[in-house]
Amino acid sequence: MTDILEANIRVFNKDAHKYETDFQEAIRMLCEETESRRLWISSKWSDTPEGNGKDVKLLDYACGPGYISRVLAPYVTKIVGIDASEGMVGEYNKKAQEAGIPPEKMSARAGNILGDSFSEDFKGPEYHDFDVAFVGLALHHFSDPLLSMKRLVDRLRVGGVLWIIDALDQPHAHHEHEKLSPETKAAIHTHGFTVDQVKDLFAQAGAGADVRVEVIDKPFEIKTPNHTFKRTAFFARGQKL
Ligand SMILES: C[S@@+](CC[C@H](N)C(=O)[O-])C[C@H]1O[C@@H](n2cnc3c(N)ncnc32)[C@H](O)[C@@H]1O
Repeated sequence: MTDILEANIRVFNKDAHKYETDFQEAIRMLCEETESRRLWISSKWSDTPEGNGKDVKLLDYACGPGYISRVLAPYVTKIVGIDASEGMVGEYNKKAQEAGIPPEKMSARAGNILGDSFSEDFKGPEYHDFDVAFVGLALHHFSDPLLSMKRLVDRLRVGGVLWIIDALDQPHAHHEHEKLSPETKAAIHTHGFTVDQVKDLFAQAGAGADVRVEVIDKPFEIKTPNHTFKRTAFFARGQKL
């Protein structure tokens, strides 16, 4: 296991139970932005002509406690959550149950797309041909963002959408991250991404059709035990060629 993966598992296992409380303002904003951009993200949902009466499958990778999965649950037939942290997987499944969403429709299990055994561990048909593969606020935690995106694109149907929410790389981000605890810093691979980097990653990952990036003009707060600061999020989507 890589050091950064171990650091992520340590940090997020510890904080899983309070993640949605700690980040409630940011989460509310991201849920609202997701609702309002749903048709911008993809044209295939259960309530659109493209998806009506068909299977609509969402992969929520590095899903955390699953608030975006829960927002989108009414518009899909199946959601698979995957996260490296067992603590987060437990929260995801607990919160889905509390929301009255059956496990046949929405459930998570532990996994790491960058690991050697990923193809073997997730080889069934339920892990392929997704309409949307989503990564929220996690790409900057991965040791190899491009490889993770390529492997997610492998799991999409042709024309399926890769959708990323992450933070913009801004000059102050480097400075803010220096103030984080060593434990939190060890779980971060990069401070964020520029719009040009994002477009390039989508093209290289094989999701270069109709790539769109939108900067969300509502900075969100990140509270850690050592330091609280603001970041700006972007939404990006592209389709598998
Ligand atoms: C900041 S949280 C984001 C959670 C959620 N997606 C959200 O939008 O709030 C980052 C998540 O990435 C997960 N993670 C980090 N590295 C991972 C990896 N290599 N594979 C799967 N999950 C990973 C962590 O366990 C954590 O749940």
